[in-house]
Amino acid sequence: MKILAEALILVFLCIFLGSEHRICHAFSSNYNARTKCLIEPEAAQDGGGIIANPDFTHGMDGWTVYGQGAMKEEISRNGNRFIVAYNRTQSLDSISQKVQLRRGLIYSFSAWIQINKGSERVAVVFKIPRTELIIGGRVLARKGCWSLLKGGIFANFTSHAGILFESKNTATEIWVDSVSLQPFTLEQWRAQQDKKIDKERKSKVRFKVTYGNGTAMDSAAVSIKQTRSEFPFGCGMNFHIIDSTDYQNWFASRFKYTTFTNQMKWYSNEPEQGQENYTVADTMVKFAQRNGISIRGHNILWDDPKYQPEWVKNLTSDELRKAAEKRVDSVVSRYSGQLIAWDVINENLHFSFFEDKLGKEASSKYFKRAYELDPGTTMFLNEFSTIEYSNDEDVDPISYMKKLDEILSYPGNQGILAGIGLEGHFGVGQPNLAYMRSVLDILSSTGLPIWLTEVDVVKEPNQVSN
Ligand SMILES: *[C@@H]1O[C@H](CO)[C@@H](O)[C@H](O)[C@H]1NC(C)=O
Ligand SMILES: *[C@@H]1O[C@H](CO)[C@@H](O)[C@H](O)[C@H]1NC(C)=O
Ligand SMILES: *[C@@H]1O[C@H](CO)[C@@H](O)[C@H](O)[C@H]1NC(C)=O
Ligand SMILES: *[C@@H]1O[C@H](CO)[C@@H](O)[C@H](O)[C@H]1NC(C)=O
Ligand SMILES: *[C@@H]1O[C@H](CO)[C@@H](O)[C@H](O)[C@H]1NC(C)=O
Repeated sequence: MKILAEALILVFLCIFLGSEHRICHAFSSNYNARTKCLIEPEAAQDGGGIIANPDFTHGMDGWTVYGQGAMKEEISRNGNRFIVAYNRTQSLDSISQKVQLRRGLIYSFSAWIQINKGSERVAVVFKIPRTELIIGGRVLARKGCWSLLKGGIFANFTSHAGILFESKNTATEIWVDSVSLQPFTLEQWRAQQDKKIDKERKSKVRFKVTYGNGTAMDSAAVSIKQTRSEFPFGCGMNFHIIDSTDYQNWFASRFKYTTFTNQMKWYSNEPEQGQENYTVADTMVKFAQRNGISIRGHNILWDDPKYQPEWVKNLTSDELRKAAEKRVDSVVSRYSGQLIAWDVINENLHFSFFEDKLGKEASSKYFKRAYELDPGTTMFLNEFSTIEYSNDEDVDPISYMKKLDEILSYPGNQGILAGIGLEGHFGVGQPNLAYMRSVLDILSSTGLPIWLTEVDVVKEPNQVSN
């Protein structure tokens, strides 16, 4: 429930946006702190959708305790009612409401969350009979102000479901207000997207056609031919393109952006220690350049132990440090100024090959070195599952931003042009669009460019429509 807050001086810097919203940012270099946090929560979106008593104007009606804890109603100094789950002993101990989900609908979820100490991840969880728990979204909730938890679920089943809240730290109370669950058909969702696309990416253009003397020409025929797309849309490219003119023509007539599938990776460029070979990568770079195709450099190092060159796997720490430094210097200086992006330490949220052997600042150091050698190119993190699977907490937007912050706050890394790479390897079933949207919303609070870098959809009957 939205009620204007009285002046409160906390450890927050508050900016007034109009007279309505008080948006606070904690004093911290941390990206997490940039997410909106309000002294009083806003009203439930869409009037709460299918949630009963979404704003707790009727006390705790419609809500029950889930698990072992307890719940109580609280009223803020300004008279706003909310609910508190306390006395928790299990991560899922919280408040709950049962809802009915229908197959084929996207359910958009939101709620305002606060906790009573520190800052913790709080998730919304859908408990569906005979199914694993499905995480619908997470927020890094804080003490002292309300954070918006957004997300949702795609229902590929018809069933009732319990909405719960999760915090792994059972010592914290979970405060909840303004809960909303709004169903959309795929058509309605698409219509919303189209509306946004029209607003953000299209604009009206007026042509004025005159004679050389400046007099307007009546009934001039104007024809427009689109010769290229400004929206970065590309495709992976492999080495077969070197020898196949069909492949070359097919590629060059469609795409202005590319990533090489394997040819710029360490195991391709230095298959035997000390024997660097850039022949294939160089040829592909030249082909792309001749055809005006921008290249994302993929990748300088890869944190997955499986994908090291064979000879790298057994090096001692000292040998590895030398070899990795040489690799970074070699590939980055070779293509410096010629690429639009580098995936610097591929998949360093899931994996930690270099951190395990060289110390926890390894990624930060290689970002620094790459930036020194190629300061005009955007340095990306690149990770899978962040938008694809809500249950993978290691790569959720909170973890992602923590890693970014760690790297960008490392001494010397402040000026880096950084980017967020989301691979996008989709498995069976409709992707959870409501969750994906919430992830993108959270990541966009960093102000950094976000690219889907490796999108693919597993082969199945609905591959194309998904
Ligand atoms: C809080 O938890 C303790 C231990 O489980 C229990 O004895 C107590 O009754 C609980 N209090 C409330 C208000 O639920
Ligand atoms: C301008 O040029 C057009 C085409 O030659 C002509 O029809 C028109 O009368 C000219 N206007 C003036 C003001 O000279
Ligand atoms: C480098 O790689 C190319 C392409 O695979 C190969 O033809 C060439 O022999 C290699 N050069 C050396 C010195 O191994
Ligand atoms: C690396 O070490 C393992 C275990 O010591 C050994 O089995 C393997 O052959 C070694 N690999 C290389 C490439 O030396
Ligand atoms: C729903 O989708 C999940 C994967 O997202 C799949 O495992 C499950 O079998 C699907 N259920 C139905 C009823 O299609």
